[in-house]
Amino acid sequence: MKEKLEHLSAEAERALSTAEDRNQLMQVRSQFLGRKGKLTLLIRQLGTLPEQERPLAGQLINQAKNSLADKIDHRLAAIKEKEENQQQETLDPTLPGRRLPRGSTHPVTHVNDEITGIFTAMGFQIAEGPEVELDFYNFEALNMPPDHPARDMHDTFYITEDVLLRTHTSPVQIRTMEKHKPPVSIIAPGRVYRRDSDISHTPMFHQIEGFMVGEDISFSHLKGVLTAFVHHMFGADCAIRFRPSFFPFTEPSAEIDIQCVICAGKGCRVCSGSGWLEILGSGMVHPAVFKMVGYDPEQVSGFAFGMGIERIAMLKYGIDDIRLFFENDVRFLDQF
Ligand code: DAH
Repeated sequence: MKEKLEHLSAEAERALSTAEDRNQLMQVRSQFLGRKGKLTLLIRQLGTLPEQERPLAGQLINQAKNSLADKIDHRLAAIKEKEENQQQETLDPTLPGRRLPRGSTHPVTHVNDEITGIFTAMGFQIAEGPEVELDFYNFEALNMPPDHPARDMHDTFYITEDVLLRTHTSPVQIRTMEKHKPPVSIIAPGRVYRRDSDISHTPMFHQIEGFMVGEDISFSHLKGVLTAFVHHMFGADCAIRFRPSFFPFTEPSAEIDIQCVICAGKGCRVCSGSGWLEILGSGMVHPAVFKMVGYDPEQVSGFAFGMGIERIAMLKYGIDDIRLFFENDVRFLDQF
């Protein structure tokens, strides 16, 4: 039996040394260790031995089996490593990389960047203010005392009696002038909130406020700056008109219309047949506002304006439902 075992072990050793790939190794394994393998069958012959010799013989056979199994595993691991290395060798570093899908800026961000870019190029600086605002800054300091009828125009989200979500970016005017001496020229983009929801209103939307205050700032400056803005934004040949209006914090006030971008002024559904579209409110800062921030209205003057970013984006891209901006449908967002 011992001889037989040595003989078989040597045979297995030889088979192992000539095996070159995974298949051949598997063959060696089944040949010697499989259910009908030569070493396996040897165990079955233990019964033919005298009883005292069986334990030792069994042990020897198992040792031989284990040692062969280890060697086969070893060789398999080596082959696997070699295969992996070969795979690396076939890697072609000159192949072009796989493109990762790239996101795009949200149209509101895009238009916001464009508008702020136009004004910063003219020398305006960017300012910000809180979205959770005091009634004082949102209304009172803007010449809208508690019983002022203009407050009705804003459907306000109140948090407490005197804390609210700002309904416009105009409070940034007050906060900035409180902190800085004139001259100041500021642009203030940000979120605003109103209790309103339909095809052209969402409870949250974006505005950009702007103002320029200093000595001798006149209505001509307002007209010059805003005309330049419109021409950058909508094209140099876009017709524009200033229409008298009213805001409590400006006097005089004007709304600015551009020629309808849909019908080019002929009159259509979008412009209600007028040929014009309103794009922003503006005016000369009211003396009462200057007094609120400690500026002397005899010394300084200035203009201010405010516009809705979504509205500008809608006009620029011909979008007819403001809610599309906030549905996050990638098919819509991808187009910008
Ligand atoms: N705050 C106004 C609104 O939300 C817009 C506005 C109008 C801002 C005239 C101004 C301005 O600064 O001068 O409707």
